[in-house]
Amino acid sequence: MKNLIIFGPPGAGKGTQAAFIVKRYRLAHLSSGDILRRELKNGTLGKKIKAYQDGGRLAPNALVIAMIERVMKRKIKGAGFIFDGYPRTLRQAKALDKFFQTHKTSLNLVLNLKLREKDARDRLLARGRDTGRSDDNAETIKKRFSVYRRQTRPLLKYYRARKKVIDLDGRPAIEKIARTIRAILAEKLT
Ligand code: AP5
Ligand code: MG
Repeated sequence: MKNLIIFGPPGAGKGTQAAFIVKRYRLAHLSSGDILRRELKNGTLGKKIKAYQDGGRLAPNALVIAMIERVMKRKIKGAGFIFDGYPRTLRQAKALDKFFQTHKTSLNLVLNLKLREKDARDRLLARGRDTGRSDDNAETIKKRFSVYRRQTRPLLKYYRARKKVIDLDGRPAIEKIARTIRAILAEKLT
């Protein structure tokens, strides 16, 4: 079983690159943002989630961990997972380690896509115009970045201490980054 985390700030390209990786390695793509967005139509819970997302704040750990683990359990017999946008807090990282331990598997790699706020903002504003994703507006993007710096980026220290992190430049074209990732995975996952 192979387990990867694709890490990085909002707009770094986590979802875009994860889509290439799942195709090649038959991993299950677990995007906590997508999983939360799928619940938006779900009554009171949906309203709460929308408030967190539109405010650019993290949804509560207990809720996110429970949702992710529900999907993981369903796919535990598969080839492995790629986590996209998860974990985002130390609580979530520890819950993930515990899940791996319970299921006698482990984390292979953290791919860290690096992108500056200015570059990410331009991408997200463009997507906001094209798709209408409600948190892709200037104010929420700014908040998402500050939450990333304060609550999520510190996790890199946790994973660096475990020698799991590979840093990648998030600026090149999508195809170019995908090629770089393919080469890394060919070396590290075999
Ligand atoms: P989430 O959905 O995870 O959003 P995010 O991390 O803020 O950022 P994105 O998904 O927008 O960026 P991405 O890195 O996936 O980039 P993408 O490939 O889409 O989270 C949303 C919200 O949900 C959070 O704010 C929070 O409220 C909640 N949430 C989620 N997870 C949570 C958790 N674990 N705990 C608590 N709360 C949680 O690319 C972005 C755009 O750029 C696209 O248009 C794409 O086409 C384009 N693009 C991609 N790569 C390139 C490139 N190389 N060159 C040019 N354009 C590119
Ligand atoms: Mg995403």
